[in-house]
Amino acid sequence: MSPSLAEMAVEVLTTADGRAKTALSHAHATRWQDARAAGEPLAVGAASPPLRPARPEKPELLPPRDVPRRRTGSPQGRIALLHALAHIELNAVDLHWDIIARFTHVQMPMGFYDDWVKSADEESKHFNLLCDCLEAAGSFYGALPAHAFMWRAAEDTAEDLLGRLAVVPMVLEARGLDVTPGMMAIFEKAGEKLATDALRVIYAEEVGHVAYGVKWFNWLCGRDGHDPKDVFHGLVRRYFRGALKPPFNEEKRAEAGLPPDFYWPLAEVLAEAPGTAGFR
Ligand SMILES: [Fe+2]
Ligand SMILES: [Fe+2]
Repeated sequence: MSPSLAEMAVEVLTTADGRAKTALSHAHATRWQDARAAGEPLAVGAASPPLRPARPEKPELLPPRDVPRRRTGSPQGRIALLHALAHIELNAVDLHWDIIARFTHVQMPMGFYDDWVKSADEESKHFNLLCDCLEAAGSFYGALPAHAFMWRAAEDTAEDLLGRLAVVPMVLEARGLDVTPGMMAIFEKAGEKLATDALRVIYAEEVGHVAYGVKWFNWLCGRDGHDPKDVFHGLVRRYFRGALKPPFNEEKRAEAGLPPDFYWPLAEVLAEAPGTAGFR
């Protein structure tokens, strides 16, 4: 008998090695998508995802203040940046499979699962693209320490689907849209084509992940007759530590369906002259 989607998700979450996790993620995504295309969808099912996903022994996970700061003017600094991004992508793979497995008690349309399966598959590709860049530069994922608290948003919202959607795709992944163009410029300026091309793929696909978050957040709010903007503000204030940081990528956020009145009221108030926010 075919495994359920929730069982496949847990299998990915409990696989530690990054390349093995992402290979399984891709294989399971393909299996789900092929069954859907054939008109014989797999069951969503139910399973018990671990509170924390399995991770490789390396990288060493450190509190953010102990992770060495990156200066991107040197090749080593750019390797450190790629390493940090690979770590984010590996977390993203787990975050998307986790949302699939953790909230199966909430009745959602099949499209909800299609969207997160596709996102998980894309994050798997992103992780591998960045590992390829690291390896081409003589390094590898695990060679440097990484941020220890990346899974905190998932733990904080483990019992709240709306909270998860608000914090993960609509705050954290939207933040990725804000900062990626600057990172692309760093690699482009350094003539590092492999990394520039990888970031271009990531940037294009991340818009979709934010859009899926907005779509299902609005759907759940609409189902219950709530104003999504008010619900969003309440949940981000409850679950997200700190204020949102401008400058925002207004254009890509709009493309993902995230309007300014969702994020601006949550932004930190800058004690700087108007127009200087982009140069911090
Ligand atoms: Fe990604
Ligand atoms: Fe993403």
